[in-house]
Amino acid sequence: MRTGGLRLRLLWMMFSTRVPTDLAPNRLTTAELTLRARGLRPIDLTETNPTRVGLAYPDEFLTALSAPAGLAYDPHPFGLQGARLAVAEELGAGGQSVDPSRVILTASTSEAYSFLFKLLCNPGDQVLVPVPSYPLFDHLTRLELVEVRQYPLEYHGTWSIDVDALEAAVTPLTRAVLVVSPNNPTGSTLGRRDLAALARLCASRQLALIGDEVFADYLLDARADAARVLDQAEALTFSLGGLSKSAGMPQMKLGWIVAGGPATLVEAALARLEIVCDAFLSVSTPVQQAAGDLLAAGRQIRALIRERIAENLRDLHALILQHPSCSVYRVEGGWSAVIRVPAIRPEETLVLDLLEQDLVLAHPGYFFDFPHEAFVVVSLLPQPGDFRAGVTRLLARASH
Ligand SMILES: Cc1ncc(COP(=O)(O)O)c(C=O)c1O
Repeated sequence: MRTGGLRLRLLWMMFSTRVPTDLAPNRLTTAELTLRARGLRPIDLTETNPTRVGLAYPDEFLTALSAPAGLAYDPHPFGLQGARLAVAEELGAGGQSVDPSRVILTASTSEAYSFLFKLLCNPGDQVLVPVPSYPLFDHLTRLELVEVRQYPLEYHGTWSIDVDALEAAVTPLTRAVLVVSPNNPTGSTLGRRDLAALARLCASRQLALIGDEVFADYLLDARADAARVLDQAEALTFSLGGLSKSAGMPQMKLGWIVAGGPATLVEAALARLEIVCDAFLSVSTPVQQAAGDLLAAGRQIRALIRERIAENLRDLHALILQHPSCSVYRVEGGWSAVIRVPAIRPEETLVLDLLEQDLVLAHPGYFFDFPHEAFVVVSLLPQPGDFRAGVTRLLARASH
């Protein structure tokens, strides 16, 4: 006991508090590992890896990576000119006019966050993040010694930002407001009015606006006044995207930041961001050389993913009709759906029973900091047969 305690204390002293001290897996993961160790394979309604859901990725995609230009190493902190131009053109084809000199390539969106936190925040500074949202924010901020302050999203038939609560969460240590649109897992998107309010707030309080728009190509029940963060130029703004979601190619490790806002602020930010990016030079040359081809090929995968999420969402709406005690929240976009279920037992009990007795894995709402119970979050990416079977069992268990 004593030596165990001593060892724990030593470990605590040796390693930084950027990484968690408690490394034990949560109960759901433990239960899943136990099932898998017994050779059982649950239907996975948490699967968000597009390369694992039976989509056809043609082998030819890889030929783009074998261009001889990939043998030379001639790095630029923001990425090779041709690749930045290819990203700007792709965004242009989607209706956004982007200056390639404001495109910064990264290996992933997670890395883009880490670069932006290095640019904007000193240790102990704060960023505002929406709730419910993406659980990785806790880690991404903590790894940079940045603190999270949450602002609520509210649901009244459609999601919106509680702008007053967001404003009240700003402190002298706040450096940035993060918006995720479409948001994971709520599927909510930024509307024009909320964007205008955020831009005004950020400009007046010298905050940066960071828009995670990785799911922007996947709109389902879209709102009429949907906006992109770069639709305004009042606040220093960074829009994040990448092949991981927009082209269904997380394995390629190519993401981007597009900077916007008042020219003097953008110039000052880019001059400093260049120092951060130059210290890492993290995007591989072959991927950058292939960027144009990968973006073009990604349109096929994107079309397959769009069909998949639309089909699964249609099925979810059809299946839930037989369970009036459950409901699907409006999904404006993205790859997930939020199902409200009767709060007759804790969410954790529900998802554990579902896994252990019905062999279906789904995420409980509390993983995403929903303000109350009971919600279950499902990915819309699984193969349709699996999705239908999994959701059928989920609804049956949740509704009695
Ligand atoms: C909202 C959101 N942003 C960013 C990411 C990470 O993207 P990347 O693979 O580019 O790091 C995810 C991944 O699920 C996500 O859901």
